[in-house]
Amino acid sequence: MPEPTRRLGSKDLTRVLDLSPGEVLPLLDQARLLKSDYTPWRDTFRQRSIVLLFEKPSLRTRVSFEIGFARFGGTAVYLDHQNNPIGVRETVADYGHNLERWCDCIVARVMKQSTIQGLAASAEIPVINALSDLHHPCQALADFMTLVEHGFDFHHDRLAWVGDGNNVCHSLIEMAATVGCGMTVVTPPGAEPDASIVREAQARACRSGASIEITNDPARVAGAFAVYTDAWTSMGQAESAARLKGFAPYQVNAALMATAGPKSLFMHCLPAHRGEEVTDQVIDSANSVVFDQAENRMHIQNALLLNLLATPATDPLARNARASARASE
Ligand code: CP
Ligand code: NVA
Repeated sequence: MPEPTRRLGSKDLTRVLDLSPGEVLPLLDQARLLKSDYTPWRDTFRQRSIVLLFEKPSLRTRVSFEIGFARFGGTAVYLDHQNNPIGVRETVADYGHNLERWCDCIVARVMKQSTIQGLAASAEIPVINALSDLHHPCQALADFMTLVEHGFDFHHDRLAWVGDGNNVCHSLIEMAATVGCGMTVVTPPGAEPDASIVREAQARACRSGASIEITNDPARVAGAFAVYTDAWTSMGQAESAARLKGFAPYQVNAALMATAGPKSLFMHCLPAHRGEEVTDQVIDSANSVVFDQAENRMHIQNALLLNLLATPATDPLARNARASARASE
């Protein structure tokens, strides 16, 4: 049976920048391999388990992790924290220390990035960020897998983001900076991505050759390989009519896609709010790859799980040996 082929430098995936440029491309390759045939890996995680804890709703993330881990013979346990945030009943650190005694990985969708950081710092097992207020790394990895499947060339092509400069936007910026491609982020004034995340990505972009442009001008989508948008109000964000007043010119509709070009793909992480950030005509068009993105979530996450759980620190046998050593001290 083939063994996991690579080990990642970071124990966790809290954000895309945890991955080195040299780790991202092999992950994309491995995801493609898995997508073509899971048979060689079907028993890899037999007797192993992951916990999925969610403070927010989900369709794609929950299902793709649950069904994805079952493809390896493993078990996923879902913990619904939508009505009782982590860190209230007991500390985040105690929560992490409990989970590390039973399972091999924590997949967490949380209100605050600081909860992800707290879990990652306290638990010995890997922690995967399944969306926070600031990042959605699994989504961005799946999206770049989808782009590559559709012929995206890191050296020549450019991705355009249109709409709110949110968590998904941040992770895509970090991916662009990592693989060295072009990315244009078009937002309404006041909805730009977080300045410190952009600064950190720009530092990596300087080394990778990526060019990242932040603008308020929708005409800058011209020539983009793909146009990507997302909800104007993210989960956990206060609904604000005043904030959304300036968003109308940033709707991805037929006119905006015509500006991008006839071959431009349309992308969305979903769920879509049809008639708001995107029209039916665009999301239902032949250029829309939104369901490829959704499908690829499972394959890239599975590639990630193979590589994260391959580390000796997370091997249950190694953990048992350490526990026995502690007990005999
Ligand atoms: N794209 C995404 O993360 O979808 P869910 O919120 O349904 O998981
Ligand atoms: N930006 C969206 C993404 C949903 C997958 C949110 O955080 O709600």
